[in-house]
Amino acid sequence: MTSSRWQSQIADNLQSWDSVAGIHARGGGAAFYRVEEFLGGECRLSPWEYEELGDVTGKSLVHLQCHIGLDTLSWARRGADVTGLDFSPQAIHEAKLFAGKLGIQDAHFVVANLADAADVLEHDAFDIVYTGRGALCWLPDMNQWASVCSRLLKPGGVLYMEELHPVLSSVDVVSGDSDKILQFVYNPFQSEPFSEESSGTYADPDAETGLHINHSWEHSFADIINALISQGFRLDLLNEREESFFAPWPELMEPVSSHHWKLKPELVPIPMSYTLKATLGPVK
Ligand SMILES: C[S@@+](CC[C@H](N)C(=O)[O-])C[C@H]1O[C@@H](n2cnc3c(N)ncnc32)[C@H](O)[C@@H]1O
Repeated sequence: MTSSRWQSQIADNLQSWDSVAGIHARGGGAAFYRVEEFLGGECRLSPWEYEELGDVTGKSLVHLQCHIGLDTLSWARRGADVTGLDFSPQAIHEAKLFAGKLGIQDAHFVVANLADAADVLEHDAFDIVYTGRGALCWLPDMNQWASVCSRLLKPGGVLYMEELHPVLSSVDVVSGDSDKILQFVYNPFQSEPFSEESSGTYADPDAETGLHINHSWEHSFADIINALISQGFRLDLLNEREESFFAPWPELMEPVSSHHWKLKPELVPIPMSYTLKATLGPVK
């Protein structure tokens, strides 16, 4: 069950995500998500993701925090037998509509809080748990998350994710003497959530959503990796990249593909994202 400690923050986040899912799928955020291109056949995954995870044909893959299902359905197009899970009913509704439009009838989509995922879905059932791309920051507790991942996987199953790098989450743009510069402004050791009231969405800042409040949590590599080790995972790879799958500071960044950005060449690069692959040992 959802920890009561964070219940009100999770409820705020649910309301916020539910209010933007339709905008991302069909409104002003659809261009950011490249929905038209996706429906036309474009893959939403980063090329290194399918290279590092390997052939998924015939494998059961559960995508935690799947949002409107574009990444989930990209894995389905590559042959995986997919289940997407998200706590936003609107996001799951949109994901099901996309699956229907693409004729991917055997994709399953489930509404549930991450904390309840292993109670709602079958235990020890999946070859792959896939997640990330702006997912972990919405979760208060990495131990709980790692436990859910472990309970969902078959022994020998694989967790794979692409996420924003902890360094990127700690810095922000500030005005320097003559220019805008990046500076460390967020405490990476803070355990309380970072709470922010805003309107619109990263995919459509002008969208008329009304005010919504979001709570996010910082997670260091130590938090994430120690949580996985304690649940019986063995780390297979951890790769850091200059590329990010979104542009948090457009004025300092340039596109390197239709889905990736990095800091302009005159700036010292920082790690923007990482991928992690871990295998669950036979004994839980
Ligand atoms: C930025 S999206 C990440 C997914 C995907 N990579 C994308 O960009 O479309 C974050 C997703 O996490 C979901 N989410 C946040 N907190 C959750 C929770 N506690 N349980 C389940 N889903 C959650 C939100 O509804 C949202 O769809």
